[in-house]
Amino acid sequence: MVMAVVVHESGGPWKAEDIALPDPGPGQVRVRVAGAGLCHSDLSFANGTLPGAFPAVLGHEAAGTVIAAGREAGSLRVGDKVVLTWSPPCGECWHCARHETHLCSQVGEPPAPFAELSDGTPLYPGLGVGAFAEETVVPAAAAIPVPEGLPLDVAGLLGCAVATGVGAVLNTARVTAGESVAVIGLGGVGLSAVQGARVAGAEVVFAVDPSEDKRELATRLGATHVAAPTLAMGGRLRKLTGGRGADHVIECVGRASTIRSAWSLARRGGRVVVAGAGARDDFVRFSAQELFLQARTLQGCVYGSVDPATDIPTYAALAVTGELDPAAMVTARSPLADAGAAAEALARGEGARTLLIP
Ligand code: APR
Ligand code: ZN
Ligand code: ZN
Repeated sequence: MVMAVVVHESGGPWKAEDIALPDPGPGQVRVRVAGAGLCHSDLSFANGTLPGAFPAVLGHEAAGTVIAAGREAGSLRVGDKVVLTWSPPCGECWHCARHETHLCSQVGEPPAPFAELSDGTPLYPGLGVGAFAEETVVPAAAAIPVPEGLPLDVAGLLGCAVATGVGAVLNTARVTAGESVAVIGLGGVGLSAVQGARVAGAEVVFAVDPSEDKRELATRLGATHVAAPTLAMGGRLRKLTGGRGADHVIECVGRASTIRSAWSLARRGGRVVVAGAGARDDFVRFSAQELFLQARTLQGCVYGSVDPATDIPTYAALAVTGELDPAAMVTARSPLADAGAAAEALARGEGARTLLIP
C-alpha cells in the first residue's frame, strides 16, 4: 500500500488514503515521487471542467526516482532520476510521424486504471500520471531522465508549467530576440512564459495579473513591465511598442474574457497564443471585420507544442545553468496529505505554485 490523494467523484473532496499499486508491467516503471506541483488543470479535472474518470489520483507535474522497471522499459534503470510527462508520444501515429508529438492521438485517451482503492475499486491516474501519491506507475516513455544539479522535488515543474509556458513562447510563438511579448495570467504557466520570453531575448516582456505578489515575482523572473488587468493596460503597452501592441501575446488563464484581452493587446499582424486550458462552454467573440482588418493570428497551444523527450532535457539544462528558475515559482510547500487545502488556496488565486511533498 502507498499513500495517495484520491478524489472519489467530480466535485468531491481530496482525501489522503492508502491505495494498492501493482508492480510495473511491460513498458512501465514505478517511480517514488519527490515532489508534485499543483497545477490549475488539477482543479479543472477535480471539478469536471476538464473530462476525466473517477475515482482518480490527480497530479501530473512531478519528478522522482525509478524504483522498479518492468520488461521493455527501454534504457531506464532503478535509481534513475526522472521528470514525468503527461504527454508521452506513441511515436507511431500520423501526428508523431509529422513531429507533432504534442498532438499524439494516444495522448488524452482515457487512461486505464493504474491502482486500486483498499476495497478493490479500480483507480484512474489523472492525465495518465497519478502523481499525488508516494509512488506511481507510468509508461517508460513518460519518465524523462534529468541531469544532476537540479533539485528533484522542484524538477517536476518542468513536466507541465515549464513545458507549457516556455514551450508556448519558444515553440508555438517562436519569439525571437528584440520582439515584444505580453503574458496574461502569472500562475506557473504564465511565469514560465515570462521566463521563456526572457530566454528568447524579447525586448519588452509585459506581464499581466490581478495579484501584486505575482506581478512582483514576474519582475524577478524577467518581466520588463507589469500591469493589473485594466482597460488602461492596452494604452501602456502600446506606448512601449511604438503605438502598435505586442508582437506576441501568451494567454495563460484559459478564459474567453482573457483571450479577448490578449487579442486586443496584440499588434496588427501579431500573434495570440492560447496556452490556458479553458471550458467547453466559454465562447470568444470576434467580428468578421476585425479578424480581417487586424490580420492577427489566433493560435491554440497544447502543452507548449513540446516533444517531451527532447524539450524537457533542454529546459532542464537551462534550469541547471540558472537561465530558467523553476524553484522561484514555488510559493508554498505542503505535505501531500494537505493537498485539499492547497487546492482551495489555488482556487482562491493564492500563490503561484504549491509543491506537494509526499
Ligand atoms: N487577467 C490576468 N490574469 C488573471 C485574470 C485576468 N483577468 N484572472 C485571473 N488571472 C490570473 C490569476 O491571478 C493566476 O495568477 O491567472 C493566473 C492563473 O494561474 P493558475 O491558476 O496558477 O494556473 P496555471 O496552473 O498557471 O495554469 C494556467 O493553463 O494549464 C492551464 O488549466 C491551466 O487554464 C490553466 C492555465
Ligand atoms: Zn498542468
Ligand atoms: Zn502518436
